[in-house]
Amino acid sequence: MVGLIRKDLLSMQELASDDIRLILDTAESMKDVARRDIKKVPTLRGKTVINLFYEPSTRTRTSFEIAGKRLSADVINISTSASSVTKGEGLKDTGLTLQAMHPDIVVIRHPAAGAAEFLARRLAASVINAGDGAHEHPSQALLDLFTIREKLGRLEGLKAAIVGDIAHSRVARSNIDGMRKMGIEVRVAGPQTMLPRFIERLGVEVFTNLDRAIGEVDVIMMLRLQTERQQAGLFPSLREYSRLFGLTAERMKAAKPNVLVMHPGPINRGVEIAPDVADGPYSLIPNQVENGLAVRMALLYIFAGGGQAG
Ligand code: NCD
Repeated sequence: MVGLIRKDLLSMQELASDDIRLILDTAESMKDVARRDIKKVPTLRGKTVINLFYEPSTRTRTSFEIAGKRLSADVINISTSASSVTKGEGLKDTGLTLQAMHPDIVVIRHPAAGAAEFLARRLAASVINAGDGAHEHPSQALLDLFTIREKLGRLEGLKAAIVGDIAHSRVARSNIDGMRKMGIEVRVAGPQTMLPRFIERLGVEVFTNLDRAIGEVDVIMMLRLQTERQQAGLFPSLREYSRLFGLTAERMKAAKPNVLVMHPGPINRGVEIAPDVADGPYSLIPNQVENGLAVRMALLYIFAGGGQAG
C-alpha cells in the first residue's frame, strides 16, 4: 500500500496533509470510472464491505454501497432496525459477530462519539467512520475538499465560512481540521448557543453575525440544524433562526460574486438555506453528492489494501 499505512479511517485528525492529497488524487482517478459507459472495475473482487448503520442516512450509505459495487466488492448493508441490535445486542457483540465472517472493511455510522474507534480496536477489518455522534465524519470532509479543489483548482490560501449548528456537527469538526491542514483559513458562524466553548482553540475565527462572516470568503458551507442532538431552547423559533442565519439570495449580496455554496445534506429548505440558493448557480450541493461516490471509492480502494489508483 502506498502512502497511508493505517488500518482504519476514524477521523481527519489522524490524517496528514499528504494522506489527504493521496486520497483526493486517488478519487480523481475513480471519478473517471463513474463517467464510463460500464461503471464497474474488478479492483476489489473477492473483498467484502459491510455497511453498519445505526443512524438514518441516504447519501453516505448509498454512496458507500455503490462505491463498493463499482469496485466489484461484495457489499452487505446492515441497518439497525433489521438486525439483532433491536434485540439488544451491543456494539461489541455485533462487532465480534461481524469479525467471525472476516469482512475486509466495515463502514460504521453510530450516534455515539467514539463508536468507530471502539469497533476498530476489536476488528481485524479496516473500519471507516461514516459519522460518530457529533464527533467526526471524515469521508464528508474529504469529499468537500475534493469538491472545492475540483472547482477552484487549489485549496491553499482559500477562505471558508462554516455556518450554523457548529456544536452538534461532525461535518464541521472534520472540515475544520481538514481545511486547516490543507491551508484554508476557516471562519465559523452561528448563534452563540450553537458554538462550542473555546472553539477558537481549533484555530478558527468566530462570528455571530452571518453577513460579516460571509464577506470575503471563497466558500460558504451551511449546516443542517441537528435537532436530534440538541437540547430544547437553543433558539427562539425556526423563523428566528432562519432570519438571522438562513442563507438567502438577499444575504448572498454580502458575499463575493463568485462564492461557492455547499451543504452536506439533508437540507432544511427555507431554514438554513433558501431554495433558490440551494438550487442556484453558486450551489455545489449536487457536485458534493457526485464526488462523494468517487471519494468513497478511493477510500475503499486504499483501505482494502490498494495503492494509489493508476
Ligand atoms: C451529515 C451527517 O450525517 O453528519 N450528512 C451527511 O452525511 N451527508 C450532515 C447532517 O446530517 O446534517
